[in-house]
Amino acid sequence: MRAVRYHEHGGPNVLQVDDIERPDPGPEEIRVAVEAAGVNPVDTYFREGGYEPPTLPMIPGSDFAGVVDAVGERVTEFDEGDRVFGTGLGNDRQGTYAEYAVAPADRAARLPDEVGFSEGAAAALVGVTAWRALVDHAGLDPTETCLVHGANGGVGHVAVQIAGAAGATVLATASEEYHDELRELGVDAPLDYGREDLAEAVIEAGRPDAILDHRLDQYLDFDAEVGTQGVRVVGIGNTRPEAGFENVAAARGKEMRLHLMSMYNTPDMAGVLRKLAHLLAAGDLRPHVSRRYKLSQAGDAQKAVLRNSFFGKLVVRP
Ligand SMILES: NC(=O)c1ccc[n+]([C@@H]2O[C@H](COP(=O)([O-])OP(=O)(O)OC[C@H]3O[C@@H](n4cnc5c(N)ncnc54)[C@H](OP(=O)(O)O)[C@@H]3O)[C@@H](O)[C@H]2O)c1
Repeated sequence: MRAVRYHEHGGPNVLQVDDIERPDPGPEEIRVAVEAAGVNPVDTYFREGGYEPPTLPMIPGSDFAGVVDAVGERVTEFDEGDRVFGTGLGNDRQGTYAEYAVAPADRAARLPDEVGFSEGAAAALVGVTAWRALVDHAGLDPTETCLVHGANGGVGHVAVQIAGAAGATVLATASEEYHDELRELGVDAPLDYGREDLAEAVIEAGRPDAILDHRLDQYLDFDAEVGTQGVRVVGIGNTRPEAGFENVAAARGKEMRLHLMSMYNTPDMAGVLRKLAHLLAAGDLRPHVSRRYKLSQAGDAQKAVLRNSFFGKLVVRP
């Protein structure tokens, strides 16, 4: 099969397409003929060596959508020919930028017939992340207001839809060019993250009870300032390794709660994927695919996911 691999750590140019043997599934695994693989910032962290993959050479990619092509002997929930999507690969095991991928059955779920493979792959890692952040950790309820930072990005554009499906009032930060699309996804108040009076604008739109923050080094004090008393902040990312408060007392005064998380720790990934499948089938979750890449363009896709501005997700299609 054809698979993108890196044989050493480095920039996007270490990615190459190799012809390798098709892997066989273990007893609790499925083999998937991959139709689409999501491109996530974390794929680049493994490639660069900031996160350590288990082996080299390594196939990048966490997300997959495709058709089950072989089933391990102890797998009961899937049959050959099932359309599936899933995530959580490319870290402790080989990834998904390939014609076939082997996944533990408990990191996959059925993809509803009406949902395209690219959209399925685009919904997986970011959907599990947003669900875990807003539903499991923040415990968002329908009477509340939720603020999502970076709402045009992969996680953000799915998070605003999950918050909306929960019935919450949704505020979002994003460049002005994406505000119309965000309104179509149900965002009540899209706000330009570049504006100088951003804090006042958020407060005017309604102080958030829960905040999804992907840039903790930039927004921790801001979150404390704009949030309600007892605001719950879920932190999923940062641009520098260190982050802190300039005004701890203000955050203390708010009784701010901060929950840091990694999607990879999700205890029941298949369970969350099934909930996402339900939202996808109901039309309450519409992942947007901004651009599709071939396997030979994987380096361009990984460059773009870090450097370019886009709405939604990038996917690789083998
Ligand atoms: N902990 C976890 O489990 C977990 C899971 C998934 C992702 N993450 C992390 O979360 C972050 C976002 O992931 P992603 O997949 O959504 O990435 P993405 O698709 O590249 O989106 C990044 C978003 O950040 C926005 N942004 C850039 N500068 C900003 C600023 N100053 N203020 C607010 N927003 C800004 C971008 O807007 P522009 O388009 O205007 O540049 C874009 O909307 C990454 O660091 C990723 O590693 C963590």
